[in-house]
Amino acid sequence: MSLYSDKVMDHFQHPRNVGKMEDADGIGEVGNAVCGDIMRMYIKVRDGIITDVSFITFGCGSAIASSSMATEMIKGMPIEKALELSNKAVAEALDGLPAHKLHCSVLAEEAVRAAVKDYYDKHDIAYDPAIFGCDVACAHEHDHDASPEA
Ligand code: FES
Repeated sequence: MSLYSDKVMDHFQHPRNVGKMEDADGIGEVGNAVCGDIMRMYIKVRDGIITDVSFITFGCGSAIASSSMATEMIKGMPIEKALELSNKAVAEALDGLPAHKLHCSVLAEEAVRAAVKDYYDKHDIAYDPAIFGCDVACAHEHDHDASPEA
């Protein structure tokens, strides 16, 4: 049996919503210092709803599948709802990831949050900084709850 679910393989081989968005309203870029993978998430927002989303991921197959799944999950969502997207929800939607690949889904959660934060900052939308908890920028400094294994 493969280590990876059919859904992971499908989203890895046929990722949805790939590419740069020229007129994005918010862009979030995060990286994992351990494996060196980088994920960039673009969102378009109209009347508080994420109307479009795309991504570019320089990373492993699980990171690509996680970003692809995350874009499908947040498209059409109210922007505050997207902040609730957890890496666990992404991994579950992919029918699971091997334990040592869970950190790849953390990157997707962080990229979405970084894109929302960028949207808020660029559009002068006031927010309680606490909603971002540990600042997304620190993803570069340490590993949050991610597994240190690459
Ligand atoms: Fe780096 Fe998956 S995100 S190994």
